[in-house]
Amino acid sequence: MAHLLSTSSSMKLSSGFKPYSMPFKQGSSAFSASFTLPASESPFRRLVSQGAKQQRNFTVQATTLPVSKEGPTQTSSGSHQMFKEPSKPQRVMVIGGDGYCGWATALHLSNKGYEVAIVDSLVRRLFDHQLGLDSLTPISSIHNRLRCWKSLTGKTIELYIGDVCDFEFLSETFKSFEPNAVVHFGEQRSAPYSMIDRSRAVFTQNNNVIGTLNVLFAIKEFSEQCHLVKLGTMGEYGTPNIDIEEGYITITHNGRTDTLPFPKQASSFYHLSKVHDSHNITFTCKAWGIRATDLNQGVVYGVRTDETEMHEELCNRFDYDGVFGTALNRFCVQAAVGHPLTVYGKGGQTRGYLDIRDTVQCVELAIANPANPGEFRVFNQFTEQFSVNELAALVTKAGENLGIDVQSISVPNPRVEAEEHYYNAKHTKLIELGLKPHLLSDSLLDSLLNFAIKYKDRVDTKQIMPSVSWRKIGAKPRTLAAE
Ligand SMILES: NC(=O)c1ccc[n+]([C@@H]2O[C@H](COP(=O)([O-])OP(=O)(O)OC[C@H]3O[C@@H](n4cnc5c(N)ncnc54)[C@H](O)[C@@H]3O)[C@@H](O)[C@H]2O)c1
Repeated sequence: MAHLLSTSSSMKLSSGFKPYSMPFKQGSSAFSASFTLPASESPFRRLVSQGAKQQRNFTVQATTLPVSKEGPTQTSSGSHQMFKEPSKPQRVMVIGGDGYCGWATALHLSNKGYEVAIVDSLVRRLFDHQLGLDSLTPISSIHNRLRCWKSLTGKTIELYIGDVCDFEFLSETFKSFEPNAVVHFGEQRSAPYSMIDRSRAVFTQNNNVIGTLNVLFAIKEFSEQCHLVKLGTMGEYGTPNIDIEEGYITITHNGRTDTLPFPKQASSFYHLSKVHDSHNITFTCKAWGIRATDLNQGVVYGVRTDETEMHEELCNRFDYDGVFGTALNRFCVQAAVGHPLTVYGKGGQTRGYLDIRDTVQCVELAIANPANPGEFRVFNQFTEQFSVNELAALVTKAGENLGIDVQSISVPNPRVEAEEHYYNAKHTKLIELGLKPHLLSDSLLDSLLNFAIKYKDRVDTKQIMPSVSWRKIGAKPRTLAAE
């Protein structure tokens, strides 16, 4: 894959580096799985394809953790609760469960008594290697994370390592785990990543759209009653000059009235992949009677949840770099290391935001209150709206309280987006289901700025400035770290 070749020079890996083969204990587990990598678009290609150029697909044998073999512990109070609450599905597959939102959610659901399986290709960790990035927080391997969780709580989270674009692998996981609900976080989720070059744009759309399509087919084939909870993004809507509704808008046109999907105006190849996902899900709900909830999530901030706080090996990732870092997380790290806050353009860009503790709550609420068969339900999943300038002002004030002098600078906007605009998005449906938001004013110091200060020695300041321009994307593979 072109982008892998282009970035390999910046990886600084030893020649013996084998990111996926090392942790697996081949043949030692009852849950032996494989992932097959389409040669044309997978970023794994160069790492696994040496000497196998004639093959179209590459299959890597993988196994789950030995702990996955064990059944749920008898002492788990949650498992008793589950039988008393018929609306609560027992078995939840968390696709992308090694990532930022997925890890926190998998632990939260496990803690609440759900039987959880994580499905993840670990490709997110590979992106870091490719681009020379790292999480602010040190994160353990998925295997150590799950062992730690088991030893602390007695609860087992099953693990299936593989790519959901590989339908054979996904079929086996569905047949093995038999989920009642699937939470699908497993996508390439960075807009800048999708705008680096052609190969990353193609990878993003292939990975996200085909992965979701496979999940839909797996539900239809193996688990028709399974509720799909899919992570969409508020970015699908863009910034229209009217209020943004939750998924649908009722329009009267030439004397006739209909309720239609709210218009989508995505502004990166990543966001466009999410729009396409939404269309595929809408269609399959109608055509096959699939029950689905699309959580159009805002920008997530924070790192701590009740569960990840239990042990340092459970610590979540925290991205602050120009490719994967989201606005508020980036600002807190910049403040912690004395770097001016990088406001893109005029700073009037307004978006919905939420604390990661609310992400896990929202997903649990969606699972506990499933959509009906054939229903495509859309919730706007955020709690507050801020402009970039408002965020910068809040971080500056929080810095003052800690005795830190925080400055802001305007940098040329690498994105193509409105920098001053109307923005008013509805977000009542999750509140109606019982969401109790954690507001930014309460968590800024507690969960963000102090956290960034704690780990500031790990910050690579070269990764702070934006490195991907929407206008300069080209077909030629780009090596980011060399720029
Ligand atoms: N983080 C945010 O602020 C935010 C905001 C809005 C929406 N979302 C959505 O939430 C979801 C999760 O975001 P995140 O921040 O946790 O991302 P992340 O990159 O931290 O996690 C995604 C996980 O999915 C895995 N994955 C990717 N492609 C896969 C595939 N084909 N098969 C199996 N596993 C795969 C990755 O290895 C990674 O562990 C994404 O769909 C994203 O679009 C996130």
